[in-house]
Amino acid sequence: MPSPGMTRRTTRVPPAADPRLAVSLGPLRLRNPVMLASGTCGYGEEFAEFTPPGVLGAIVVKTVTRQPRDGNRPPRVCETASGMLNSIGLENGGIDYFCETLLPALRTYPTIRIVNIAGATTDDYVALAKRLDGEKGVDAIELNISCPNVAHGLDFATSPPQTTELVRAVRRATERPILVKLSPNVTDIVAVAKAALEGGADVLSLINTLQGMAIDWRRRAPRLGGITGGLSGPAIKPVALRMVWQVARAFPKAPIVGIGGIASADDALEFLVAGATAVQVGTASFLDPAAGRKVVEGLTKVVDDEKWESIESVRGTLKSSEAGPPA
Ligand code: FUM
Repeated sequence: MPSPGMTRRTTRVPPAADPRLAVSLGPLRLRNPVMLASGTCGYGEEFAEFTPPGVLGAIVVKTVTRQPRDGNRPPRVCETASGMLNSIGLENGGIDYFCETLLPALRTYPTIRIVNIAGATTDDYVALAKRLDGEKGVDAIELNISCPNVAHGLDFATSPPQTTELVRAVRRATERPILVKLSPNVTDIVAVAKAALEGGADVLSLINTLQGMAIDWRRRAPRLGGITGGLSGPAIKPVALRMVWQVARAFPKAPIVGIGGIASADDALEFLVAGATAVQVGTASFLDPAAGRKVVEGLTKVVDDEKWESIESVRGTLKSSEAGPPA
């Protein structure tokens, strides 16, 4: 939903390695549905050897804020059953550092480059979006309204009216496609998704991490310096699938990126069947920095084996009528 009178820039389309894997994600055309998730691949620089940006549909870089942030007290990560807790606290060098020092390399990556931004106020997001709007090499902006580890990190994502107001303000500030990253820490994900779409979101990314904590009982101490953190990895995949399915069922035309415990082509396909158009690989990259590339390779094999003309044909094909939700 563009603002009146606004002309969208056309997204640069990288050469498609296998046209059967190409997907349209709102205004973005991706070479394949596999993206690296924000906060799990830095700014791409250390990943190139294992998952070259050119094999990906898109890369979403680590959250950038208006001012530099030191992040939370260590320890900042801890392993849990089938998952990982993090409490990084959005450590980053700020928008000036990003544009001057990190963006030049990002510009050279032959894939769609999405910059994830966060702030404490609408003004913060608007200032960041305006600044990025003037920069080459930024193909889209993902609004992180769902970081559970900083003050005000969940203010927007837990309030549908605030979500709409924020996205509307950013929509006026930029011509770039806007993705909005939603939080699972809500009772009604559909209400927040609706609010983001009403504000003018082009794409919905879901889910960010689930709030959790880990305790070392012998020390009577939390395992994270921030005490609580965000849970990610295979442990949250069922929650993510449920939320993607709910949002896709409510808004069948909304472009959705599924996030949460995706480590294989099978995981990715479960999200596409639930209604996602693309997926983000996150925590899996900490175990294996080649995970993103391997998911792409796995999808290519499935497309071959199943003789699909386009992976887009899989989207939203869940036969939910065979087993309806509880009455
Ligand atoms: O603590 C962090 O930096 C996490 C960010 C997020 O989950 O969005």
